[in-house]
Amino acid sequence: MPNATQRLLVLANWKMNLSIDESVTLARALTRAVARAKPAFDLGLCPTFPALPGVAKVLAKTKVALGAQDIFWKPVGPFTGEVSPTVLHELGVAYVLVGHSERRQYQKETDAMVHQKVQAALAAGLAPVLCVGETFAERQSGQKDVVVARQVHSALQGVALPHGQNLVVAYEPVWVIGSGQAVAPEEARDTARLIRQSLLDTFSAEVVSKQVHIIYGGSVDPTNIATFVQQSPLAGVLVGGASLEAKRFLALLRQL
Ligand code: PGA
Repeated sequence: MPNATQRLLVLANWKMNLSIDESVTLARALTRAVARAKPAFDLGLCPTFPALPGVAKVLAKTKVALGAQDIFWKPVGPFTGEVSPTVLHELGVAYVLVGHSERRQYQKETDAMVHQKVQAALAAGLAPVLCVGETFAERQSGQKDVVVARQVHSALQGVALPHGQNLVVAYEPVWVIGSGQAVAPEEARDTARLIRQSLLDTFSAEVVSKQVHIIYGGSVDPTNIATFVQQSPLAGVLVGGASLEAKRFLALLRQL
């Protein structure tokens, strides 16, 4: 049973996987199946940057949204190798992942950078998907709640969410990403409640319930997805590994 108040959101994060051809082929298979099924959820696909134009063509005139995996915090300028939020918007991108733990780890993205990216995404008309979550060491030392609340606060402090714009907050415990072992759904919901509480420091209750989705990510697969979307405040999932192959991803979507 999905969350009664919000339409479920499923985002596929393909990371640095799949060639351009493979991305386009997978997008085609998914859009066909989803169009036939008339699903009760919204779906977004986040391919690697070079595959965005090809996947955008496949998704045009479908109900499946396009997402990107990162942005830079300025719209234009001398920032070699970075990707502009306005250019992503021009390509038809609707969602953009911000602060994914792999970027925090490998690119040393800080809370301050994540904050700027959230603001830049909103300014360009994109919906930021703010990724937060604790490492195993932080969890072991009892810091999970402190870390998650800090990440939410610092990313969103002073941010306005104008009417008609959306924000997604993805709770992704770093230590379960790609591990094949998700956290217990009740624990994910507890943390989602904490996130909801932290959001209320920045936004009104009405904005939070109408414009913000809190979703779970980390080893979501066809066998466990249903347990993560049964109850508020979780209203969707961010799927990595299990979204890379049409048959498996469609099996996962059929559980909703
Ligand atoms: P996973 O990745 O589903 O492969 O654990 C999720 C993510 O990193 O967004």
